[in-house]
Amino acid sequence: MRVVSGIQPTGNLHLGNYLGAIRNWVKMQDEMECLYFLADLHAISMPHVPSELTANTREMAAALLACGLDTDKAILFNQAQVPAHAELQWLLTGTARMGWLNRMTQFKDKSGKNREGASIALFTYPVLQAADVLLYQATHVPVGEDQKQHLELARDIAQKFNTDFGNGKDIFTLPNPIIPKATARIMSLRDGSAKMSKSDPSDMSRINLTDDADTILSKIKKAKTDPEPLPSEPDGLEGRAEAKNLVGIYAAFADEAVADTLSRFGGQGFGTFKPALAEIVVEHFRPISTRFSELKDDHEQIGAALAKGAAKARELSAPTLKAAYAALGLLR
Ligand code: TYM
Repeated sequence: MRVVSGIQPTGNLHLGNYLGAIRNWVKMQDEMECLYFLADLHAISMPHVPSELTANTREMAAALLACGLDTDKAILFNQAQVPAHAELQWLLTGTARMGWLNRMTQFKDKSGKNREGASIALFTYPVLQAADVLLYQATHVPVGEDQKQHLELARDIAQKFNTDFGNGKDIFTLPNPIIPKATARIMSLRDGSAKMSKSDPSDMSRINLTDDADTILSKIKKAKTDPEPLPSEPDGLEGRAEAKNLVGIYAAFADEAVADTLSRFGGQGFGTFKPALAEIVVEHFRPISTRFSELKDDHEQIGAALAKGAAKARELSAPTLKAAYAALGLLR
């Protein structure tokens, strides 16, 4: 069993990333062999400033370490230091079908009305994501709900490659997404129908790991809600997307079921609930953000951690890359 997952080093790590993926990453490092990476090669699919990408890659590494990733337990690296990711992507582009990529909703969302002007990398991005996990024979991929479609594509590519070129053997393992039930899709604080996202132009829509206590309190106080008090049962949250999102966040941090949260807050208004929510988020993020501040400017430590992880990743990826070249009949 092997766990592989990645995060784009664009902007801040936010509460959606944390509850949707990173918290699971940290848990899994005690249970299985884990590889986690900064998807810096994915980040060039959108317009970017090179110096910012470098800084963001270091910052995201610091944020992951601050969240509890331990480089003695898990392998942490950035893709750009492991050329096998880009190499395997090219090998897989012969197997991935245009029709499959045309169905990817993220390309549609990110390219918007300007499809002709989108980069080719934005279109082929999911093939690189397939390479990321297939390269290591990943069995488990902890992600939020929004990555499910990409993981299904990775399975389709693996299956077709195995069938077409495996000669009776499986070159690639079919990866299984691990999506947390309760926190698969944390929504924006401003709009209960949009996911919390780094690319939302409004910073008020998300809680960043680096936000201080006052900012967190003010964002939660200003979060969109409805005028009704909280219900006493989870069913009462149906049709109340914003309330459901906030209660879900509280329950996740309290490590309890939504029903338990509602048994305490049912009948109360948001005037009582919001400060309680802010408090539990602040309490949880405080040690993480302290550790982040200590680490973020220590380029030497972060550089050394990423170099160590990349060396290990290069070693682990080599046999699968070699098998893929050979299966395709490419002389090396
Ligand atoms: P990214 O950088 O957008 O997000 C990192 C992780 O956070 C999860 N996530 C969320 N979960 C719940 N609610 C939200 N609002 C929310 N927003 C983000 C994402 O699902 C993800 O797990 N393409 C990927 C990075 C990637 C990758 C991979 C992941 C590249 N290669 C291989 C897994 C395996 C991405 O852009 O994630």
